Amino acid sequence: MKPRLNVVLVASAGLLLAAASICVQRAGAVKTNCFPELKQNEDPGRERCEQRKCEYEGQQSDNSPSCLWTRGGYIVSSVTENTNTQYSAVLTRQQDYNGPFPGSRDLDELRFSVKAISDNGLRITISDLGGVRYQVPKEALNIPEPGPTNPDATVYRWEANTSSSLLDVYQKTHPDQAIMSLLKAGFVFSDQFIQLSLGLDCQNIVGFGEHNHERLVHDRRYKRWSIFTRDASPTGPGNIYGAHPYFVCTDAGKHMGVLLKNSNAIEVELTPDGIVYRVLGGILDFYVFMASSPESLAQTYSAAIGHPLMPPYWSLGFQLCRWGYRNITEVQNVIARNRAIGLPYDVQYGDIDYMQNTMDFTIDATNYPGLSSMVDDLHSHGQKYFVILDPAISSDVEMHKQVLPSQRYEPYHDGLTRGVYVKNLDDTVHEGEVWPGRTVFPDYTLSATQAWWERWVSDFYYNQSIRVDGLWIDMNEPASFTYEPHKPQNVCPNNTWNYPPYIPTSFIGDRFYEKTICMETKHNWGRHYDVHSLYGHSMGMQSYQTLRNLFPEKRPIVFSRSTFVGSGRYAQHWLGDNHSRWPDLHWSIITMLEFNLFGFPYNGADICGFVYDATREMCIRWTQLGAFYPFSRNHNIKEADGVRTRDQDPASWDAEAQKIMKDALFFRYKYLPYLYTLFHYAHTNGATVVRSLAHEFPNDTAAVRIDEQFLWGSAMLISPVLSPAKLSIRAYLPPEDGWYDAYTGEEVQETGLVMLDAPLEHINVHIRKGFILPWQTPSTTTVSSRNNGLGLLVAAKQLPNSNLKATGSLFWDDGESFETYTAKKFILHEFELSTDETSGNHVLVIRTPFNGYKDPNSLKFENITILGFDTSKDWSVSVNSEQHSEIRVNPNRKTLILDSLSLPLGQSHSITFAVRSAGTALASAVAVAICALLSTAVTGNNRWSLAI
Ligand code: NOJ
Repeated sequence: MKPRLNVVLVASAGLLLAAASICVQRAGAVKTNCFPELKQNEDPGRERCEQRKCEYEGQQSDNSPSCLWTRGGYIVSSVTENTNTQYSAVLTRQQDYNGPFPGSRDLDELRFSVKAISDNGLRITISDLGGVRYQVPKEALNIPEPGPTNPDATVYRWEANTSSSLLDVYQKTHPDQAIMSLLKAGFVFSDQFIQLSLGLDCQNIVGFGEHNHERLVHDRRYKRWSIFTRDASPTGPGNIYGAHPYFVCTDAGKHMGVLLKNSNAIEVELTPDGIVYRVLGGILDFYVFMASSPESLAQTYSAAIGHPLMPPYWSLGFQLCRWGYRNITEVQNVIARNRAIGLPYDVQYGDIDYMQNTMDFTIDATNYPGLSSMVDDLHSHGQKYFVILDPAISSDVEMHKQVLPSQRYEPYHDGLTRGVYVKNLDDTVHEGEVWPGRTVFPDYTLSATQAWWERWVSDFYYNQSIRVDGLWIDMNEPASFTYEPHKPQNVCPNNTWNYPPYIPTSFIGDRFYEKTICMETKHNWGRHYDVHSLYGHSMGMQSYQTLRNLFPEKRPIVFSRSTFVGSGRYAQHWLGDNHSRWPDLHWSIITMLEFNLFGFPYNGADICGFVYDATREMCIRWTQLGAFYPFSRNHNIKEADGVRTRDQDPASWDAEAQKIMKDALFFRYKYLPYLYTLFHYAHTNGATVVRSLAHEFPNDTAAVRIDEQFLWGSAMLISPVLSPAKLSIRAYLPPEDGWYDAYTGEEVQETGLVMLDAPLEHINVHIRKGFILPWQTPSTTTVSSRNNGLGLLVAAKQLPNSNLKATGSLFWDDGESFETYTAKKFILHEFELSTDETSGNHVLVIRTPFNGYKDPNSLKFENITILGFDTSKDWSVSVNSEQHSEIRVNPNRKTLILDSLSLPLGQSHSITFAVRSAGTALASAVAVAICALLSTAVTGNNRWSLAI
């Protein structure tokens, strides 16, 4: 948004409005398309444009619309409240001002209110005067409004009702220009079509979901995205599984996040000067957050929508899945062969194959006999089992008679008795079609559904003895095959909900109800038209509550395909049905980063790709990348284009491929204590786990658009190979602090844009100077790795006067009990390396700000490795005031390693490094050389271990 011209005072209000809109437009206000129903670059022509009372500009080369909506039709007719922290007014529609779609009644009067909800957040609502329109229910999302600590404490201020805007919002650090404006021009509020243009003085927009954006920072050349949950794979430009009408915008020290709390279908159009929102119902309910950095903005947003779940430790382990295990023997073979190759492997899945005719809570007795024993066997090997559950419940009683031993599908009948299914307008149960054929859809917004769902999950666990460890909830957009594009004969009733006056052109499919259920159907929270995008969210909430009730001691874990704002409190997310194609590797990084901003730090894509066959090289590269997805799972479709897909689990490949995949996963397992600690901060502070370079280095302009690399927290930078036949990659290493190679410990000499070697067996990982990362010797399951010795990797940052600095922390608990943090059953360690100015001694301290947990495995820190150490001197090391002699140094790599330590977890420790007198230097030098030789020999075998 560029500076506006001052408006000259004119006598009549009408003239004033007209003058303002012209001035605004000349000054570069958002160009709002007067014909949103036409595709981009489709020209309605001057005549049609002027009939709609819009301004015809003619076709432009920059993708901008040819016919512009420059009028503003609502005026502030009375101000009912106007303080520093609250503004309320009534907006009245001008007589000749109408929305573009005659089928949608324009509202004459609106309530407009602005409220300071915290020091860094404000809420803006525009709704009907009577307050009867649909709003996202509080049970679904309740954003706290504690108010500012005092009226002057806000980091923002606003001006309401200026000549061209309903509201201008300023970030106080940038007082000269509003960062965001609700523009009067183009504002429409009708029953099923609300349009508002948001002017933005800020460049880099990231967010809105769920889509496959193909780039992290948005293209603002009039690009449209629709938001409405849909069963569609992340391969095209349309709306897919979740609904997240949230974006962040950052630019030169400005950091703003804007949520539109609305669950109706939404279209956003990203333009050079701002965003046009087109919303198909509900109200406008914006939450605007501002912060001093991207990370503090992410934490502010997370606190508002609810912090994400703490995942169990084991769920950070590697996971195997496929759709199309034809029988239990195939699953057992896969389990056996991956165990046999010594793969780090914690979780096995059961997709719909285990079910009788793909019906929830049933087991295919012919093909899956002994499922319960198989799960018990997984448990006895320290592994876990997840099952899929779909919301759609089979309602074909004739089929039930044929395929079920009892001839009755009890979950269905029980649901009917309890009245849990979504209903048609005449109160009959609404039917659709999913995997088992005819199905009905539980209304998870109804409390009775909770008890019903819980009963059948419990039955599956206890009566059918399948001791599942978590729930994978799928197809909950909700998907129904009745209204697929190739079934034009199947239609929903002809009403305004199924055929709204405006369907965003960026939607997948022609029909509004494509691949889902009819829009007039009834849920406890409202009409399907309004609550459609909350279906997966409500199923996630009830699935979470089910696990909470059945296993109160345990941390619930649910993966949901469809999510909404705030679902991260109840469920986590995988990125859906990607394809085994090279671009999908890159795209997965983008969506993974976005979901961290949406409050789902635990997410990841199907490794090696879901649809089609991955090649060997692709599967290797994808496993290397996937070893750094917080949710690390290899998953595969049953068949593609009628052909069964090949197995793609690591053991299905040749020995060399297996070794490369294992190396990547062992590296992951080694650093799980670091990853787990990041999750602790996500759960308690809303911190992100996976971050973009721009997020972590907001002042580095070269980092802004990088989306082929990412970080774990602040300290670990991952630079994967994302295309075939590459032996090296271009990567960006921000120069701010400097980096070490994570495998060799060598200091990176060149930062900025660099070429990195990337042979097939190698994924580049760098450790940022100034950080200390906890690790643990890895094993093939997390249950067994949790018995192993701990270590610290200290990536020292060199300060002037040879001073060193690094910090880090470790959160540790039993890894699976519910809320160990609030129950105070955890250990928190803080690590700090510093230098005593007077003596020149370096000191590494392990502090214990909290110790409320006793680990059964008597864990100890056994190894400490310091990178960037001055190895030209002869150091004497004392550990807790006792001399320590097991020291290795590598002068070439400036690395010092303390072996054979025995520092109990949960206790504080101190290690001092002092320069020794010259006399002992020679003996030490010999030791150094020997150690260097020894460690080179070790390197070849364990790529996860530091090759010092
Ligand atoms: C769709 C899910 O996205 C996929 O992961 C699953 O394998 C299939 N449904 C079958 O259940």
